[in-house]
Amino acid sequence: MKKEIQISPSILSADIACLDKEVQAVTKAGADWIHVDVMDGHFVPNITFGPSVVAAVKKSTDLPIDVHLMISNPDHYIQDFANAGANLLCVHAEASVHLNRTIQLIKQNGVKAGVSLNPGTPINVLEWVIEELDYILIMSVNPGFSGQAFIPNSIKKIGSLRKILIKKNISPLIQVDGGVSSHTIADLQNAGADVFVAGSAVFGSEDYAETIAQFRSILTA
Ligand code: DX5
Ligand code: ZN
Repeated sequence: MKKEIQISPSILSADIACLDKEVQAVTKAGADWIHVDVMDGHFVPNITFGPSVVAAVKKSTDLPIDVHLMISNPDHYIQDFANAGANLLCVHAEASVHLNRTIQLIKQNGVKAGVSLNPGTPINVLEWVIEELDYILIMSVNPGFSGQAFIPNSIKKIGSLRKILIKKNISPLIQVDGGVSSHTIADLQNAGADVFVAGSAVFGSEDYAETIAQFRSILTA
C-alpha cells in the first residue's frame, strides 16, 4: 500500500442528496481515499449506508474506497462490501468474536484488511493479529457521529502503537478517525499516524480543495 500520508474524507458529512457531486468534488479537491462509514444502529447508535452506497461511490471516483464497518457480525457482510467495490475494509475489534477469522475473510475477498479500536479499547487486543493487518484504525471519538469533540489521549495511543510497530518491525498504516482538523492533525502525525479521516472538517468547509491543501501544508511542514 502507498506509504505516504493519505487524506480520506468521510462522506458521512457530505450532502447525501448530491452524493455523486460531493464525491467528485472531493476527488477533484485532492483526496487520496474516500471513507464510507457503515453503521447498523446496533454496534453504534446510528444507521447509515449499505453496500449499494459503496457501489454508488465507486461510480463517482477512481480513488480507493475505504469502508469503516461499525456493525455487529461483520463477517456476514464482508463479501457484499467487497463485491460493491470496497478497496479497504475495516472492522471493529469489539464487534468481532473471531477476529483472526474476520481478517482472513477480508483478505480472501481481495481487500486490504484493517481493524479499528474504540477509544476505550486497549491496543493489546491486536497482539496476536497485528502481523496480519494492512492498517489499524485508532478512533479519536466514540464511533457513531461526525462532528464530535476530539479525544486528546488518542494522540498518546497512536504513539504507543507506533512504538509497537517499530519494535516488531512491521508497517501496517495507522489511520485516525474522529475530530481530525487543522488543529489536531500535526500532533496526530507526530505521534505516528499515516492516514487521516476527516468528515466535518472537509465537508463542512467552504472550499474542499483549500481545506485539503491546508492539511497537506501542515502535514509536510
Ligand atoms: C464516526 C465516523 C467518522 C466520522 C468522522 O463514527 O467513523 O468517520 O465521519 O467525523 P468527524 O471528522 O467530523 O469527526
Ligand atoms: Zn469512520
